[in-house]
Amino acid sequence: MVELSLEARGLVYSWTGGGRALDGLDLVVRRGRRLAVLGPNGAGKSTLLLHLNGTLRPEAGEVLVDGVVLGHGRAALAGWRRRVGLVMQDPDDQLFAATVAEDVSFGPLNLGLSEAEAATRVDEALAALGIADLAERATHQLSFGQKKRVAIAGAVAMRPEVLLLDEPLAGLDHRGGVLLQGVLGALAAAGTTLVLTTHDVDLAYAFADEVALFSNGRTLRQGPAAEVLADRVAMAQAGLETPLLLELGVRDRAEALARFGRR
Ligand SMILES: Nc1ncnc2c1ncn2[C@@H]1O[C@H](COP(=O)(O)OP(=O)(O)OP(=O)(O)O)[C@@H](O)[C@H]1O
Ligand SMILES: [Mg+2]
Repeated sequence: MVELSLEARGLVYSWTGGGRALDGLDLVVRRGRRLAVLGPNGAGKSTLLLHLNGTLRPEAGEVLVDGVVLGHGRAALAGWRRRVGLVMQDPDDQLFAATVAEDVSFGPLNLGLSEAEAATRVDEALAALGIADLAERATHQLSFGQKKRVAIAGAVAMRPEVLLLDEPLAGLDHRGGVLLQGVLGALAAAGTTLVLTTHDVDLAYAFADEVALFSNGRTLRQGPAAEVLADRVAMAQAGLETPLLLELGVRDRAEALARFGRR
């Protein structure tokens, strides 16, 4: 089994009308791990995720899956997206079908599953996110947090090898956050590789095996969560503080998770 799942090498990207969002960014995503991409607003987290699933094409650098440089042709992209799912930061960018069930079933049906198989996936995903009761609701009428959960359910229903989640807890209430952490824990236990972006240092500590610390479109440091988060120099460079839980000496992730869930 190849340990390396996804890799970004020297990515450079500038948005039209914006500055340079990625400035020679390197990142490795190891199979079966939970990686938190941590950085302040504007660091390039969302721009990176859009490269990791092939939505954006870098001006320079490359993205590799299992050591193979990914192409942006139609067939390559389709295969890539089947393996690497993305939940965008803004659910309005992601949801497009009229009802929740239609939206979540779109991906599975597109994979070629039967109506019955797709319906099972939809039921499972909605139940996991605690939104089974929203199945027949119109997507455009949902609250932000409800939309966010539907967007996550849509990605989960695809059963990707790697799931990229852009600020998944932002906008969720306490119960929604705890439920989502349970969902992510179950996915990780089932072998899904998880990449989550956040500027919440405590969430990064509670969630991640590994942290990639971003600033100004570059990776300042990537490594074991407790090591990177305790690196005051690198954290200050990114304009972030050491997690409270780490300051308090909570070194065990299970304990951090439990405490995070209760805050
Ligand atoms: N659609 C866009 N058009 C122009 N510039 C953009 C666009 N999206 C992002 N940018 C710019 O690219 C840079 C990186 O933005 P990005 O959204 O990747 O940061 P981020 O780390 O995800 O921030 P946040 O924590 O606020 O979500 C910023 O300077 C931003 O202004
Ligand atoms: Mg973002």
